[in-house]
Amino acid sequence: MSKTILITGGAGFIGSHVVRLFVNKYPDYKIVNLDVLTYAGNLENLRDIENKENYIFEKGDIVDEGYIKELFAKYNFDGVVHLAAESHVDRSITNPMEFIITNVVGTVNLLNAAKNLWKGNEEGKLFYHVSTDEVYGSLGDTGLFLETTSYDPQSPYSSSKASSDHFVRAYGNTYGMPYVISNCSNNYGPNQFPEKLLPLFINNIRNGKALPVYGDGKFTRDWLYVVDHAIAIDKIYHEGRKGETYNIGGFNEWTNIDLIKILCKQMDIALGNEAGTAEGLITYVKDRPGHDKRYAIDANKLKNELGWEPSLQFEEGLSKTIAWYLSNQEWMDNITSGDYQKYYKEQYS
Ligand code: NAD
Ligand code: DAU
Repeated sequence: MSKTILITGGAGFIGSHVVRLFVNKYPDYKIVNLDVLTYAGNLENLRDIENKENYIFEKGDIVDEGYIKELFAKYNFDGVVHLAAESHVDRSITNPMEFIITNVVGTVNLLNAAKNLWKGNEEGKLFYHVSTDEVYGSLGDTGLFLETTSYDPQSPYSSSKASSDHFVRAYGNTYGMPYVISNCSNNYGPNQFPEKLLPLFINNIRNGKALPVYGDGKFTRDWLYVVDHAIAIDKIYHEGRKGETYNIGGFNEWTNIDLIKILCKQMDIALGNEAGTAEGLITYVKDRPGHDKRYAIDANKLKNELGWEPSLQFEEGLSKTIAWYLSNQEWMDNITSGDYQKYYKEQYS
């Protein structure tokens, strides 16, 4: 069946994988990618599909209420997959207001536009809000985040995402907005901006630069290959129950330091360097303020209800990821010139 779907933040890391999957898998859908192209948005991520007939790019800001209203009137969307956000915890510590404006106000603008467009005609419509496991806060050594775990966000980033989740549910409850929310763990893979742990460390190893490990490095994250996240989003969009939340995770917990050591070993092999070269770059630095100790997702609801499971084992995903960055050095070089140097200096010096 033909549908017109708005994907926000489609030029970013996860968004670009979601756009690619929807454009290739659903030739009958019209996919509109709305992105304002912040430092994290990069149309290079979508070169392979940009000329497809069912793909349209719109450069615009989810915070601009008038523009969003016009966009919804222009395309008469059947669905929204909302990924546009400020997404980096460290940046939220330096500049929380930007996160509130984009992640909260931007989301409410989209909700209002969808509500007005779909009023009285909600059948077949869906607002899919892509969120994070960080809304649940930080775990101790045991336990997993369930969909029913209480919210307890600890950083300005996670607080802004938690707030946007609350607005989506409030619109469902108050106005009958057909919605679904997913909360995913740490993604890794091609096209991730090198402010996040893995691409930053891959790039630093390639350049023989220090690897800045926050605190004692014993913080735990659950890692999922980004294409598996995109596949989960597709499944939930089409088969998920409206008004539900689905946790998405990799069943794949690592402490940062163990993960970094595996990365170092694989990088030495990929670069043809002597074993131990990359590990020699590990440097312990001042901890992130308010650093969440452990995230771990129970993704069994998604597995049992919709039959989704990660398709890749972690070591395979990591070696694919390393291979991608090493064979796309121009992509990395283009985004690490200019403003990135300033960011890096301010964050790490
Ligand atoms: P990203 O920072 O790589 O990309 C965000 C995209 O949103 C960029 O293309 C940017 O230009 C765009 N954008 C930002 N502000 C905008 C605005 N005002 N109007 C229009 N576009 C705007 O982020 P990501 O890592 O791909 O994350 C995507 C979504 O998934 C976010 O909502 C994030 O909270 C969520 N998420 C991320 C992870 C992860 O590990 N990266 C895990 C779980 C959930
Ligand atoms: O859990 C999902 C979240 O994962 C997403 O919602 C966020 O958008 C995404 O950025 C990510 O958040 P994290 O803070 O976990 O990711 P980050 O890559 O910034 O850091 C991963 C871990 O590595 C974390 O414990 C902090 C640590 N770290 C990070 C950087 C950038 C370092 O030790 N050194 C670093 O230089």
